[in-house]
Amino acid sequence: MHSLIAALLAALALVLTGPAVAEQAIVIKFSHVVAEDTPKGRAAVYFAKLVEQRTKGRVKIQVYPNSQLYNDSKEMAALQKGSVQMLAPSLAKFGPLGLPEFEVFDLPYIFDDYADAHRVTFGPLGKELLNKLQSKGIVGLAYWDNGFKQMSANRPLKKPEDMKGLKMRVQPSAVLQVQMRTLGAIPEVMDFSAAYQALKSGAVDGTENPASNFYTQQMQDVQKYLSVTHHGYLGYAVIVNRKFWDALPADIRASLSAALRDATIFANDIAAGANIDALETIERSGKTQVIRLSPQERLEWKRAVIAVHRQMESRIGKELIQSIYKETGFDRAKF
Ligand code: LMR
Repeated sequence: MHSLIAALLAALALVLTGPAVAEQAIVIKFSHVVAEDTPKGRAAVYFAKLVEQRTKGRVKIQVYPNSQLYNDSKEMAALQKGSVQMLAPSLAKFGPLGLPEFEVFDLPYIFDDYADAHRVTFGPLGKELLNKLQSKGIVGLAYWDNGFKQMSANRPLKKPEDMKGLKMRVQPSAVLQVQMRTLGAIPEVMDFSAAYQALKSGAVDGTENPASNFYTQQMQDVQKYLSVTHHGYLGYAVIVNRKFWDALPADIRASLSAALRDATIFANDIAAGANIDALETIERSGKTQVIRLSPQERLEWKRAVIAVHRQMESRIGKELIQSIYKETGFDRAKF
């Protein structure tokens, strides 16, 4: 009789306390430094939506755009500490992590177009680079496109020599600093979040970025000229804290990876169009004069900076550069 009463009391307690406490959702903080209406900003939000749907709410991705949570100089350390779980830094931001090989993506004119870049980012060379992140406590999950960088300043930049003496904001890549010096300009490394104010105050004269970044940071208000030099590729590595990733349940990791594959397709599908639209909007604004270079004029820019490739062999690795040439059919002798 006694055990029956105990069982009834336990059942009653269960009814009174209601359903078992819902399993706590896994929260992933995803921080980045660009505006929401950019390829990376939109892809991050799309990824978050897919994850919520496919894990039925078991995982929540909290996206923090525009350096709201961490700016460039803090985000990588925050990820390694586990204060934030995911980032998608530009490939020009991995040199300071002790991985100068990533700066191969910064070599001027190394890629003619997105197809060239995808031969690396979707191929064995790209995979090899992402694997190097493991030693830094990071898992490299994917590459996302942004686009091709243009040069901007408050004087027209038609010829390479027009760059002489300009202070140019760059990302913290040794390749980009050498690129600017090769053009006779003075590189100023600074966080993306500080670029607008530095241009406005005149602390720097110009910068380089794809049109979508230029426009969404309102640089048309502080830059009189933008030259369509198309001189370098800007892409991202989507990365996660390794300890956090390895500790996830296998089924959750599988859902996140599948969602990221779809978000990568989405990011790369919108990147080209976003940059074309941004460039046209900048031109229509009348605030920044867009200088479209002829093929001959662009060839002069290529010839002016191609020496950077050889100069950076000792830092990036001659073999890696040659492997990319082979993958894309790049012929340095052509310049
Ligand atoms: C920059 O710092 O110029 C870019 O990396 C910003 C970004 O993440 O696109």
